[in-house]
Amino acid sequence: MQERGFVLTAAGVKMPRLIYSTAWKKERTTDLVLRAVQAGFRGIDTACQPRHYAEDGVGKALQILQQQGVQRETLYIQTKFTPASGQDPNTIPYDKKSPLAEQVEQSFARSQHNLKTDYVDSLLLHTPLFPFSHLLSVWQAMEKIYKSNNARQLGISNCYDLDVLKRLYGEAEVKPAVVQNRFYDETGYDTELRQWCSEHSIIYQSFWSLTANPHILGSETLVTLARKHRKTEAQIFFAFLMAIGIVPLTGTTSDAHMREDLELFNITLSSNEITSIQKLL
Ligand SMILES: NC(=O)c1ccc[n+]([C@@H]2O[C@H](COP(=O)([O-])OP(=O)(O)OC[C@H]3O[C@@H](n4cnc5c(N)ncnc54)[C@H](OP(=O)(O)O)[C@@H]3O)[C@@H](O)[C@H]2O)c1
Repeated sequence: MQERGFVLTAAGVKMPRLIYSTAWKKERTTDLVLRAVQAGFRGIDTACQPRHYAEDGVGKALQILQQQGVQRETLYIQTKFTPASGQDPNTIPYDKKSPLAEQVEQSFARSQHNLKTDYVDSLLLHTPLFPFSHLLSVWQAMEKIYKSNNARQLGISNCYDLDVLKRLYGEAEVKPAVVQNRFYDETGYDTELRQWCSEHSIIYQSFWSLTANPHILGSETLVTLARKHRKTEAQIFFAFLMAIGIVPLTGTTSDAHMREDLELFNITLSSNEITSIQKLL
């Protein structure tokens, strides 16, 4: 990926502006991660949540890539601590009876084992916990991992309540550098939350960007722009997201879509075009 394909986060981490994400890939995970990196992706997102992610499959791909000469340091690896409420009760990758801080430690040790790496570039809390004191206990355990240099930055996912994010930011010693959220109409596309993130140098990563927005992809605006730029509607929408500072996740399983996604860096939308898409949100 070219240099313009990266953004420097508040924590000083070089994050790809488009990330390959691995939910629901099961036994295809290793092959798909290999194909994504060989196509040019440099960011991989996973989670220590066997219900939805084969984190060990990502680790296998990293090992093969290393043998092929792709060094670990050239990749951005992001994983998550998933609270017990988000796990399949039969496959929880830690002892759910342990105190929360120990659950985080055990989960992260499993991630290191699965991913065959000592450090991750980004460790996210998969979903906020309630009451806030529980969230803070988990965050402080994540801070410990950060301070031991095993996670280069911290973040949170599925955080749609700006007050929760503000409180976390206020009380955390290590501030969140990333928010990863579903990008959809139901939350008003997180407009206020994204504005606050940008004012606090927090990178907003989007998922469900295509899945949740067929009405935008099929709109006259997108169809016209796609024709004009000789790109697909999906490419135009991803290019728009990147133009407004969002780092989209893509979980495509198609080689053609991987190639199309990586062409995004060659699409320049004018400010009028960006405004016309913004009006659809
Ligand atoms: N943090 C969380 O809680 C959370 C929750 C859910 C998902 N995620 C992550 O977010 C990632 C993205 O998920 P997503 O739901 O947004 O969907 P997605 O997996 O990126 O793809 C959605 C659909 O769009 C198609 N597609 C992908 N790229 C395309 C392109 N360039 N042109 C046309 N079609 C394209 C895909 O088909 P093809 O496979 O044929 O390309 C798929 O049918 C997931 O892989 C997952 O890891 C995170």
